[in-house]
Amino acid sequence: MLGLTDEEKELMNKCSEYLLGIQASPAHGLDHAEKVLGYALELAKGTGASRKALIASSLLHDVSRQFGGKGEGHGKESIKMVGHFLGKISLTEEELALTLEAISNHSLKEQGLTIPIESKILYDADKLAGFGMLGFMRICIYAGEQGYSFDEICDMLIKKLPRKQSQLHLEQSKVLAKELNQKLELIQELMREERIL
Ligand SMILES: [Fe+2]
Ligand SMILES: [Fe+2]
Repeated sequence: MLGLTDEEKELMNKCSEYLLGIQASPAHGLDHAEKVLGYALELAKGTGASRKALIASSLLHDVSRQFGGKGEGHGKESIKMVGHFLGKISLTEEELALTLEAISNHSLKEQGLTIPIESKILYDADKLAGFGMLGFMRICIYAGEQGYSFDEICDMLIKKLPRKQSQLHLEQSKVLAKELNQKLELIQELMREERIL
């Protein structure tokens, strides 16, 4: 379905195995990483972006989250953890640099306009994986992991999600985000009906 070459499949398998070996947070685990990868390869079509950098960065961007990493710095923390592993697998120097930069950039609030296309794609793909019905389910899984209250779940759904949607880089991502998040209006309506909102 992802249309991977044998070399790309091998890279994906190695990164997936690495992530599964340390997975502690299902909300940021292999399910999430594979969803990010699917969006990343879709957004990469026709851009000339490095697919290998996108495969590695999609699968490993949230490694620090498995160890409690949070906030803007968790991308940088992830690259400290995966640098050694990535240095040993089949990436060129340029692919490795693009991978590390994309991972580091994905958690920054201020996204520079001059960042590489791979960084923009990973950023958008990561946000898209948090939208729509799957995104809503993921918010609930994450809330369970963190012990969040119902109010905090509502806050993530009502305030944080539209903010994330407004920060996307690519036009194609904005179209996809709109489609995905329109579906959540029904959930919001049900929440209002049950006086949760
Ligand atoms: Fe992240
Ligand atoms: Fe992520």
